[in-house]
Amino acid sequence: MKYMLNPCIALRSWKLVPYAYYIKYNRNAQGLTKEEFELLTLCDGSHELKESELLRLLIEKGLCHPSTEGEQLSDWQKPLACENRYFPAINWAITSKCNYNCLHCFNASDQKQLVTEFSKAEWEQLLLEAQVCGIHAFTLTGGEPMLHPDFLDILKGIHSRGMYLDELNTNGSLITEEILDEMKQLGYKPLIKISFDGLDHHDWLRNQKGAQETALSAITLCIQKGFPVKVQTNVHRLNWQVMLATAELMDSLGVLEMRIIRTTEAPRWVKNSHDLCEGGACLSFEEYYDFGMEFTREYIAKPHRMKIDIWQFLQYDQTKLTYHKRPIDSGSAYRDSLPVCRGNRGMAAIHANGNVVPCMQMSGYYEKHKKILGNVKTDGLKKLLTDGDYLEEICTTVGTLAENNKKCGSCQYFRACMGGCRAIGLALTDDMFGSDPSKCIYFFNGYREKTDAIFKNSGSMWAEQQN
Ligand SMILES: C[S@@+](CC[C@H](N)C(=O)[O-])C[C@H]1O[C@@H](n2cnc3c(N)ncnc32)[C@H](O)[C@@H]1O
Repeated sequence: MKYMLNPCIALRSWKLVPYAYYIKYNRNAQGLTKEEFELLTLCDGSHELKESELLRLLIEKGLCHPSTEGEQLSDWQKPLACENRYFPAINWAITSKCNYNCLHCFNASDQKQLVTEFSKAEWEQLLLEAQVCGIHAFTLTGGEPMLHPDFLDILKGIHSRGMYLDELNTNGSLITEEILDEMKQLGYKPLIKISFDGLDHHDWLRNQKGAQETALSAITLCIQKGFPVKVQTNVHRLNWQVMLATAELMDSLGVLEMRIIRTTEAPRWVKNSHDLCEGGACLSFEEYYDFGMEFTREYIAKPHRMKIDIWQFLQYDQTKLTYHKRPIDSGSAYRDSLPVCRGNRGMAAIHANGNVVPCMQMSGYYEKHKKILGNVKTDGLKKLLTDGDYLEEICTTVGTLAENNKKCGSCQYFRACMGGCRAIGLALTDDMFGSDPSKCIYFFNGYREKTDAIFKNSGSMWAEQQN
């Protein structure tokens, strides 16, 4: 009998990850054994295969099926051998231009508007290379990505090459019914992440009169059109009091998830908020965690459908009564060879000027220090994902961090913390192996235990999940 890969399955090989497959619209690839991979490469409708236990298991796993007359593999499904290292995703600032000039923007170090963006030739080249490198998912960001004159063509280019738009970061001001309809026609609805920085505080932080109304209309429209919406909300000393009311509103609109992010000490924000609060407007880490706990206690006291993600602290889903603490305790899964940031390792972050950076939060630091790890416009993506400075930085292991930072390496919490967030560590110590003080406070001040207590004392059967 002849067999076919199921239509949502594509076979991929990378340097060091030779046997893997993608499930369509699932960001990360899954590993296979050599035998499984080789058998699946024969599931193309043209090879006669003997029945076997392995084949039965692959069918059971949903990877292949007996073929029917006329079935054909799509180009996307066919085995693709990539010479570069495994990267399933790209976080791409297609433009740095923005129609807002937010007071806190980490992309800009002064008050000037940014102006770089990918030209048509440059984005076409990047998409071509992304396909060759076995990239699957894209997050588009900016600047305001929807301001890019080729925004829709870029989306179409991503989808026509078998990749997909996974997430769109936007201020929502350019979302229209027509654009959403066009996006729908691509056959996949991305997660639309709309920024909303607190009820009656949004216009101020966004430096734009009417921004709140615009964002609320965009959120409502996306939900009406069936798109999943995640709201991204900055929290700082001037707006933490309205977070609960903001969450109530977002939940009532049908938002899937609200992510609350501590506004970080970006140069522009430090400048703009300097005179507004004694000691600056950023919440200290203790204030941030204490806020997060108080917010959580109040939020879970009433029923809500919307999930909450308090950045690098706590995530929970009231509909499932589950929560995850951040950072995850890797426990017995700890290995010295783990990368210092698992998020960065799988997702190449590309700035509007073409520079690759470990993550977008770090882009300001790298720009300021003129530290260039590579540029997709001049070097090409494939080269950067094959070897060189970017790859070396992104593959830095927790073992190397422990060797270079004795304080972290000898800490009782190192296996759980693994040095914390590199973006925070770097921003506050100027050292790529520097300790992330937010995690020292988190572990030594007992916030893990305190967060467990919130759920245990809530009277519901909340269960902790590890990832
Ligand atoms: C740079 S914007 C680009 C996408 C889009 N223009 C938007 O407004 O969402 C992406 C996200 O970064 C967040 N952001 C910018 N500066 C920040 C800072 N200093 N601290 C924390 N988040 C920041 C924004 O609030 C926004 O949610």
